[in-house]
Amino acid sequence: MSRFLSARHRDLVPYVPGEQPQDMQYIKLNTNESPFPPAPEAVQAAAADAAKCNLYSDPLCRSVRERLAKRYGVDMENVLLTNGSDEALNFITLAYGDAEHPFAFCDVTYGLYPVLCRLYHVPFIELPLRADFSVDVEACLAADCPLILANPNAPTSLALPRDMLEIIVASRPDRLVVVDEAYVDFGAESCVPLVKKYENLLVVQTFSKSRSLAGARLGYIIGPAALIAELDGIRCSLNPYNVNRMSLAIGSAVLDADEAYMQNCCVIMENRAWTADRLREMGFNVLDSSANFLFAGHPGLTGEAYYKSLKARGILVRYFSAPRTAPYVRITIGTREQMEALIAATGEILKEAQA
Ligand SMILES: Cc1ncc(COP(=O)(O)O)c(C=O)c1O
Repeated sequence: MSRFLSARHRDLVPYVPGEQPQDMQYIKLNTNESPFPPAPEAVQAAAADAAKCNLYSDPLCRSVRERLAKRYGVDMENVLLTNGSDEALNFITLAYGDAEHPFAFCDVTYGLYPVLCRLYHVPFIELPLRADFSVDVEACLAADCPLILANPNAPTSLALPRDMLEIIVASRPDRLVVVDEAYVDFGAESCVPLVKKYENLLVVQTFSKSRSLAGARLGYIIGPAALIAELDGIRCSLNPYNVNRMSLAIGSAVLDADEAYMQNCCVIMENRAWTADRLREMGFNVLDSSANFLFAGHPGLTGEAYYKSLKARGILVRYFSAPRTAPYVRITIGTREQMEALIAATGEILKEAQA
């Protein structure tokens, strides 16, 4: 650490993203990306805007906000565009967290939440998931501070129904609830329809998973106009051109063909059911997923051993070493061929482990 680093950041523990290997071609099932590339028209739209890169992007991100507002039945004032939904979470933590306003989230959830809290010196409370990895709704109701819930949760893949989330939101009108819906399009119920009804609800979504645009870095927040205006103040103070031209162009084009992307989600859901069945036949415990990934563990293998054996066979999955998650791995759902390769490799690994 240099002597120049502010004392504020001496204890920083940065987020560690999943591996993005450049050394060889893996079957990449480790960072919950879509296996389907964006449609050629969308790629062309981005390329056309790349030619205008001498000019700044629209700081109001109107093209995408208008389309999102139409798609979700809200007004443009209810939508804020961000550089990936990670940036949405960043703005929210900066805007609403401080020493007097700790955040609460589950003990097994998206790893960026505690990282952002530490960055901004926001204390946080971790609400333990139950033994079956379900969210402890009673603990959520009791938490008297801003609450972030990933729904479906990551890496567990489990989702709460919307009426349960509504009970949590309605229970304390003076407490902010942030529902992170990065994976909602794979079979969970969105809380967007509740946004008009509650002043204390923010919904975060992303183009990274269901809309095949992880590399474009496009996320958004849907919420009450008053909160969106506050978050926009944070956005403009940090980076008023937070979304670049190519991402705005590709995002608009993708939304114009949204049905095709939602159809891709159905294919992923079919592949998910097929993979979960095969893994269960082989003795895995597989949680009931509402996301584009499975959280699975086998009694005869540690999560780490399974991850390493798959990697040696050219298949990448994600392993989390914390005590509660260590028996499992998180497997992104890809194409049917990719999942067949995963199942074949898993059969070999189990045979070796049992020999
Ligand atoms: C629960 C959850 N929220 C948010 C994100 C961030 O996604 P992005 O910044 O690509 O929109 C992720 C990424 O994997 C995630 O798992």
